[in-house]
Amino acid sequence: MIRRRKILKTGNVLVKSTAQMEGIRESGKINTYILDYVQERICAGVSTGEIDRWVSEQTALAGAVPAPLNYEGFPKSVCTSRNHAVCHGIPSDGEILKEGDIINVDVSTIYKGFFSDSSRMFCIGEVSADKKRLVQAAREAVQVGLLEVKPWKPIGDMGHAVYMYARSRGYSVVEEIGGHGVGLQFHEEPWVSYVAQKGSGEIMVPGMVFTIEPMINMGGPEVYVDDKNGWTVYTEDGMPSAQWEVTVAVTQNGYEVLAR
Ligand code: MF3
Ligand code: CO
Repeated sequence: MIRRRKILKTGNVLVKSTAQMEGIRESGKINTYILDYVQERICAGVSTGEIDRWVSEQTALAGAVPAPLNYEGFPKSVCTSRNHAVCHGIPSDGEILKEGDIINVDVSTIYKGFFSDSSRMFCIGEVSADKKRLVQAAREAVQVGLLEVKPWKPIGDMGHAVYMYARSRGYSVVEEIGGHGVGLQFHEEPWVSYVAQKGSGEIMVPGMVFTIEPMINMGGPEVYVDDKNGWTVYTEDGMPSAQWEVTVAVTQNGYEVLAR
């Protein structure tokens, strides 16, 4: 999510109850299933509009609702962000995937009022070695972050680890857009940065649920928002960007991935 000034809204609960956690877990299972469904079918020749229909239909069949649809006016059920699109790409029938593309498919589900959020990258056919390496590094960055998720540590330690890993691979990290608490609403406290200082931010406590979703750029970290649709974020330099996202819960001794 894009960082906003007004962050705390009433009703935000940082620590989820056992029953709430179970609800988010169920939502996350559907979210993961939908990405599995996309993964089995996505290929060259498919349009992003078609991906939106898959997500819309499968979500409905699961008795759930796609969280992006009508969220602050977002027009579709899923975000599809290709090549130099960083995030919040709007699916369309005119956008046809072709060999060599990399694309992020970002799925978010509401089930019985509980929200989950995860995304994956897909390589379409044969992809250049440098794009493949970027996609792999973005995936590993999430893994590095997960290993830092432990109770009683500041969340900035996680963000810092993600940042250092991406930099060590020669990539930059988008600063303006980050992760977020999730579960009872789409976007809750805390704001989760991946350009964070060690020791900064909220203390992670058991029952907290948030996303790890760093946006990793092959070139510079600068981004801009498409002024025609008001949503899609692109890299300023036109170089590719990659992002994987999980919904994670802090447990008594570490973490549990609720959606991937
Ligand atoms: N799924 C995105 C996230 O990770 C949110 C997209 S908002 C939308 O936070 F409206 F574009 F769907
Ligand atoms: Co998210």
